[in-house]
Amino acid sequence: MKKLLSIVVVLVFFAVMAWNFAAPPIPSQWSEEQQALISSLSLAKLPPLADDPSNRVADNPLAAELGQRLYFDTRLSSNKSVACASCHNPELMFTDGLSLAMGLAIGPRHTPSLVGLSYSPWFYWDGRKDSQWAQALAPLEASHEHATDRVQLLHLLASDSVYTEMYAQLFGPLPTVLNLPGSASPLGDSRQQTAWNNMDEGSQRTVSRFFSNLGKAIAAYERKIVPGTSRFDEYAEQLINSSATQQGDLLSNAEIAGLNLFIGKAQCVSCHNSPLFTNNEFHNTGVLAVSGQLPGMGRYEGIRTARNDPFNCLGEFSDASPQQCIELRFARDENDLVGALKTPTLRNVTLTAPYMHGGQIASLTEVIKHYNDAPTSMLSHNEAKPLGLRAVERRQLESFLYTLTAPLATAAKWLSAPAD
Ligand code: HEC
Ligand code: HEC
Repeated sequence: MKKLLSIVVVLVFFAVMAWNFAAPPIPSQWSEEQQALISSLSLAKLPPLADDPSNRVADNPLAAELGQRLYFDTRLSSNKSVACASCHNPELMFTDGLSLAMGLAIGPRHTPSLVGLSYSPWFYWDGRKDSQWAQALAPLEASHEHATDRVQLLHLLASDSVYTEMYAQLFGPLPTVLNLPGSASPLGDSRQQTAWNNMDEGSQRTVSRFFSNLGKAIAAYERKIVPGTSRFDEYAEQLINSSATQQGDLLSNAEIAGLNLFIGKAQCVSCHNSPLFTNNEFHNTGVLAVSGQLPGMGRYEGIRTARNDPFNCLGEFSDASPQQCIELRFARDENDLVGALKTPTLRNVTLTAPYMHGGQIASLTEVIKHYNDAPTSMLSHNEAKPLGLRAVERRQLESFLYTLTAPLATAAKWLSAPAD
């Protein structure tokens, strides 16, 4: 009896192991529907970047050069050692490798990649900014990031002949700094706010317009940061253009099986879709709140902040007409956006650990385990459902993500500080 029992135990053990590790059949022939879906993810399907009507210098080459200079300049911070590039480092696909970003102090969020981001209608994990130029203004004045302010920045540019010249060519002469305090901002500490309130309204406007122009130049630079063709894209293109037998060498069997899961059983493609692997929308995926923080309200609060932002598309510093601000005017703001965050791109995701809005998840193996378990959300509800993937399937899904990694299509001159 005992012997029989142990045989049964052994058999059950092998059955479970086989179920976990035996590879499922590889889709040698994709259905037409699957082919269309795979093709829709290919970088070749990425349309040219749309105009940004709120930024009239968005595609001006000189603006991109001024933006690049500002992006890498550590003088744009109160301790002269923080630049945009400190956290969005080109060598790490414009991330920093940290769980929580660190500028003048440690902040509450993880640094997202900027690759392909200009295609997004919303910025920040909660989408509280509706343009890339308006986003670029916030870190400059945030006390844990650059901790400088718009008046200090005006003094800095006025003291630098290269900046003064470039700015004048794009936007007209810099405003005069005579009669301005050394430091002032409506968003700063009480000293900066008092100084700001003591300025007359005309000067406040002039300074804020100057400030918005800096954001517009930085955004022009960021529009250069675009992904390059990966092995997955080559596979997708070949799938469309030639016979199924040829694709064998581009992706391994495990990677193809992972792709099959990505667009099928694992349902990743329902949010991570289009050539940038994001639907640019907001979802609650049950990621734990950052340790020591209450769960955030996410997009529910983000859209309300965006509507009240003086630098939004409808504001006086935008170059757009109100009719052009479609995203902002028609954005959803319902209760189901509580705890919802922006779907990030998965291009180059193998190079940008750790993951999620607070860097809560260290590795892709654990990210996939998170989706497989689909834990209950602390606030509102997790939209993703448990997947029931076997160990071998989880590994295949992970190996597929490696096929999305490739050098950027951005010209090398944009990937470091400008040579003087
Ligand atoms: C101290 C590190 C740090 C610095 C410095 C910094 N950022 Fe960021 N950046 C972050 C973090 C963290 C977030 C996400 C914050 C959030 O969503 O609340 C972010 C978000 C962004 C986003 C939105 C990304 C998305 O997915 O929507 C853009 C664009 C961006 N930063 C550009 C810049 C620019 C331009 C500068 C310089 C003016 C800059 N950042 C300076 C850390 C930094
Ligand atoms: C319901 C929409 C949705 C589905 C389905 C979904 N994701 Fe996500 N994904 C998101 C959102 C939103 C985030 C950001 C969540 C956060 O930061 O808390 C994210 C984050 C990620 C990240 C981290 C990226 C980074 O840069 O931090 C990876 C990797 C990822 N998802 C892979 C997958 C895979 C693989 C699947 C399929 C098993 C999947 N996702 C299914 C919406 C989704």
